[in-house]
Amino acid sequence: MLRWKRILLGVTGGIAAYKAADLSSKMMKLGAEVRVALTRHATEFVAPLTFQALTGNPVITDMFDPRTEQTMSHIDLARRVDIMVLAPCTANMIGKLAAGIADDWLSTAVLATRAPVLICPAMNTRMFENQVVQGNLTRLAARGFHLAPTGVGDLACGEKGQGRLIEVEQILEMIQLILAEKDLPGRKVLVTAGPTREYLDPVRFISNPSSGKMGYACARAAARRGAEVVLVSGPSRLAPPVGVNLIRVSSGREMLEACLAHFDDADVVIKAAAVVDYGSSQTRPHKIKKHEGVTTLELVKTPDILETMGQRKKQQILVGFAAETQKLVEHAQVKMDKKNLDLIVANDVAQEGAGFESDTNIVKILQRHGPIQELPLLTKDEVAGIILDRVLDLLQHREASKA
Ligand code: PMT
Repeated sequence: MLRWKRILLGVTGGIAAYKAADLSSKMMKLGAEVRVALTRHATEFVAPLTFQALTGNPVITDMFDPRTEQTMSHIDLARRVDIMVLAPCTANMIGKLAAGIADDWLSTAVLATRAPVLICPAMNTRMFENQVVQGNLTRLAARGFHLAPTGVGDLACGEKGQGRLIEVEQILEMIQLILAEKDLPGRKVLVTAGPTREYLDPVRFISNPSSGKMGYACARAAARRGAEVVLVSGPSRLAPPVGVNLIRVSSGREMLEACLAHFDDADVVIKAAAVVDYGSSQTRPHKIKKHEGVTTLELVKTPDILETMGQRKKQQILVGFAAETQKLVEHAQVKMDKKNLDLIVANDVAQEGAGFESDTNIVKILQRHGPIQELPLLTKDEVAGIILDRVLDLLQHREASKA
């Protein structure tokens, strides 16, 4: 969410300038107050009127334009914004900022601000790889500018390679990461997400419909709040959240190994993954043929990852999920005790808008010796935020009782 955040979006002259229109519109939808400044070259690619219509605010295009509300608008706006975002940012603007040149409204405003500045480069691959440009980016990073990565793909010049403007959703994610209150700095949070797969043969497996959305939301929220995040994910189509260390796994055993490798120094573990409980007693090396007439499968239990971590738990706050279709609270309570958890998030996956695949969830959060927190239908991002608030309470309570 960007509610009430004041954003200055600076657009410079590159073919990706058209994407800035979508960016400004999405910023507005997330509740931000957006002002847009176009460099003279940017106006060759996109019309100021587009941004004026999308943001409802006059667009700044010229340092000495008598129509902009004040003569010192670059200083005034630079003082009032919460963040400046330059997207797309050309090699020319990167060079000017690295050298401290202020020869137009946007470069002057960047020099005058104390707000964080996010630079989203976009240019031809050869230009991007040029040592001068790379040197300028390094100088800007050393001075505290936030640098977005570039994407790889087809470029407007017909070449393929590094240098594309990253996706609008990634830019929005970076803005939220920069602006979020950092109340989990120095904490290591291990999150699991998605399904696991237990293969019967090379082309068939046992799994479930978990999309990874709930776990990715937890990882994203923890990263925004300043934690070091390791996300162990089963197969998922979701884009990796910005700022997390993503480890992809497939089977329950692989998930167990990845989790244990990061468990000892973790402060918090959030286990949102839907781990398959049973796999085949033997995975066939070749596709099972129909004529073999295999009609029964012998199944064996997969390792219970959370229970294993519950047995080894020292300083870690352990948060489990319970996916149930009946007796939600009773079953969740049993899992919390058996797996030695601090919190368990119970979701009735048969309920509309809850559980697998949806963008929303309806959960009850159970705590040892505490009341049950019943939450209404919320987005998975909102649920993740509330889980982390509860985790932070537990961490602070534990530290206060040690002091
Ligand atoms: O990914 P989404 O599409 O967003 O869906 C979200 C979700 C429904 C998967 C998520 O909200 C959820 O409920 N995750 C837990 C699903 C599950 O496996 O529940 P369970 O009741 O079977 O397991 C209880 C807990 O033990 C879970 O934290 C699970 O990760 C863990 N477990 C289970 C079995 C096992 N072998 N190892 C485990 O660690």
